[in-house]
Amino acid sequence: MWLVKKFFIRCLTKFVGFVMGRMNLSEPELLSGPGSLQKLPELIYSKGVRSVLLVSDKGITGIGLTDPLATALEKIGVGCTVFDDVQPNPTITNIESGVEVYRRSQCDGIIAFGGGSAIDCAKIINARIANPKKSVSQMEGGMKISGPLSPMFAVPTTAGTGSECSLGAMVSNPETHEKFGVASPLLVPPYAVLDAQLMIGLPPHITSSTGMDALTHAVESYIGTWATDYTNSHAEQAVAIILRDLEATYLDGTDIERRQNLARASHYAGLAFTRAMVGYVHAISHNLGGLYSVPHGLANAVILPYVLDFCREDCETKLAKLAVVGGIGSDSESNESLSEKFIEKVREMNRNMDIPTGIPELQASDIPNLAKRALAEAHPQYPVPRLMNQSQCEEVLRKLLVD
Ligand SMILES: NC(=O)c1ccc[n+]([C@@H]2O[C@H](COP(=O)([O-])OP(=O)(O)OC[C@H]3O[C@@H](n4cnc5c(N)ncnc54)[C@H](O)[C@@H]3O)[C@@H](O)[C@H]2O)c1
Ligand SMILES: [Fe+2]
Repeated sequence: MWLVKKFFIRCLTKFVGFVMGRMNLSEPELLSGPGSLQKLPELIYSKGVRSVLLVSDKGITGIGLTDPLATALEKIGVGCTVFDDVQPNPTITNIESGVEVYRRSQCDGIIAFGGGSAIDCAKIINARIANPKKSVSQMEGGMKISGPLSPMFAVPTTAGTGSECSLGAMVSNPETHEKFGVASPLLVPPYAVLDAQLMIGLPPHITSSTGMDALTHAVESYIGTWATDYTNSHAEQAVAIILRDLEATYLDGTDIERRQNLARASHYAGLAFTRAMVGYVHAISHNLGGLYSVPHGLANAVILPYVLDFCREDCETKLAKLAVVGGIGSDSESNESLSEKFIEKVREMNRNMDIPTGIPELQASDIPNLAKRALAEAHPQYPVPRLMNQSQCEEVLRKLLVD
């Protein structure tokens, strides 16, 4: 039975991959480097935008991170309305509030300023403005949005999600405790700013978990069956930077060069996974986020080694290559040993950055349902190297239980 099911999942995944491969995905035009945010007001003005909605969260506006930009915009003649009610794992209500503020302030453009939560929320606010008759729930899945969308400028403040270059956005529904994705090439922000100066004050635990999210994007896109030369080379660069710079940045976040490298790595990983997709780590993590609000990056960091253990033999050569790219082994070693080294490296990074080995919120009684939802999310749109069935997914989840 499982053999037949596997065959059908593989065929469907191949078909989805074929369609995705034909999609024309753009890359955002970048302003990059420490201090590059200063060039944003002029860019916004040059695009004819005169009233912008700045979407962020209170953690970011509370430390004054958005103030210089808001002032510079006003100075150049672009009105700036700040909407900072975005919650981590943004909700449908957050989006609707933002839509209301956008309309009330008669905005004609959007700045997404923050981590993945602010950027995803801004993406769907923008989609709702252009598709006023469609509710957020009706946008779930792929290709449910029509354009054109208002000009959007993404300013990531974590390194991180890669949402500034991805075609997706994740939304939480607090009523059902489910998290769902909205995907469309129209959601790729046309402009993005990679400015490490904004990340200097990022607390160590957010630096580590968001960095491990970027690593997960790189690894899952690399070992998946939709990987291409383009996605592989971006994923390899991301892995090399993250393995070299993340732990040092966790210990001392003030090195601007390392911060800029990590912003670049997150962006590369974003370019890779938005084309080659993610895998079971994300499927499980999204569902833990929906049910218990576990931060996305933290959940990924915890789950990544267990999922890699599960599929190691089926992607041994690729994990071995990542070990070499990451500077933790040499070509002369066997693929078996290198792939094991890579997984051990992930565990070591987690240990060194105080990331736990389990999820304290996880309840044993929720595991069957969580596994069911994770597999429904993954099949057929995640091109994983080894397929998981219900009992195998439950087994992985049981490893995350904390006594
Ligand atoms: N669309 C995509 O492609 C994609 C990919 C991965 C994850 N996601 C989604 O992104 C969300 C997670 O995003 P995230 O991990 O970036 O976290 P986040 O946006 O939820 O931010 C986490 C916390 O960090 C704070 N913060 C952010 N930048 C800061 C800074 N520079 N200084 C100080 N504090 C700062 C915020 O105030 C917040 O409290 C999840 O909802 C996840 O599902 C989306
Ligand atoms: Fe992610």
